[in-house]
Amino acid sequence: MSDLAIETSGLIKTFGDTRAVDGIDLRVPTGAVYGVLGPNGAGKTTAVRMLATLLRPDGGEARVFGHDVLREADAVRSRVSLTGQYASVDEDLTGHENLVLLARLLGHRKPAANDRATQLLEAFGLTDAADRQVKNYSGGMRRRVDIAASILNTPDLLFLDEPTTGLDPRSRSQIWDIVRAVVAHGTTVLLTTQYLEEADRLAGRIAVIDHGKVIAEGTPGELKASVGAGAVHVRLRDSWQRAEAREVLERALGTPVQVEADPSALTARILDGEARLGSAEQASRALAELAEAGIAVDDFSLGRPSLDEVFLALTGHVTEPTDDNDDERPTTAKEAAL
Ligand SMILES: Nc1ncnc2c1ncn2[C@@H]1O[C@H](COP(=O)(O)OP(=O)(O)O)[C@@H](O)[C@H]1O
Ligand SMILES: [Mg+2]
Repeated sequence: MSDLAIETSGLIKTFGDTRAVDGIDLRVPTGAVYGVLGPNGAGKTTAVRMLATLLRPDGGEARVFGHDVLREADAVRSRVSLTGQYASVDEDLTGHENLVLLARLLGHRKPAANDRATQLLEAFGLTDAADRQVKNYSGGMRRRVDIAASILNTPDLLFLDEPTTGLDPRSRSQIWDIVRAVVAHGTTVLLTTQYLEEADRLAGRIAVIDHGKVIAEGTPGELKASVGAGAVHVRLRDSWQRAEAREVLERALGTPVQVEADPSALTARILDGEARLGSAEQASRALAELAEAGIAVDDFSLGRPSLDEVFLALTGHVTEPTDDNDDERPTTAKEAAL
């Protein structure tokens, strides 16, 4: 038995001239969130669909809990569940009716289906909305009911394909709590996202993908460490000292210092380099020099680089989250049946 939830090698899917997935190697450990991070069109949904046995790979191999997605598709299907941007909930039914119906389809008897629906609606903060039609739900409620539907039977591996794209910050953090709870119950989650912050917060490891290829892989910390040491933010007690503070910091850190909109705030990038000290030492030396120059500091912080900076450094372009939903392409009968 494999201790990996997912293992792929050289996985390929082409659509005409588009190499949507172009030789992906992944090793996803069990028991955590694995983030697949990439911009719109990177190949995330295509990869997930192959892993969930909904789409036939054109090349390479993929195993889920050791089962080949082509030769042992039934074994894979028995252990996974997929939440797309639009899952199979019925708009005209209430949240409760949807979950009961889907639980009945999974073979639960009526009282058990009813209990499970009630329990999940409660856990997902949807009790008050349980008897409203899903078409009247907000985007965030809709995503929550989608996820609830996909974990009626607790899967060993849950695919969450951009579960928070287009949601407001509050709905997004509700989904994050749900994801954490699902993992705490022992499910491995493969989460695709365009949001660097989301992968950073939830995932134990992240694969960054672009144009169908994995361009970086590691823990969030490793990915950030690969681009540089971060930045120091300083707020002065007296804003009239800012010009002088800027000179002191530029000399101490050897990097250009940015002035912020706040007239007493400054930000300086800290560079990595063999001859250089660690970022904490560099920052504390810079602060000592400010003190020596008689410049009082009210507040400072040392930030690691954001994953946005990581993405920019790796790809030369920034990610542009979009709310497009490309996930409703018809799947051919052959693909669906494998
Ligand atoms: N069924 C399809 N037919 C044609 N092209 C497709 C199809 N599915 C995906 N693509 C293309 O493959 C690439 C990857 O798409 P997708 O996997 O949906 O990316 P993501 O989910 O990361 O946004 C895109 O260029 C997309 O237009
Ligand atoms: Mg997608």
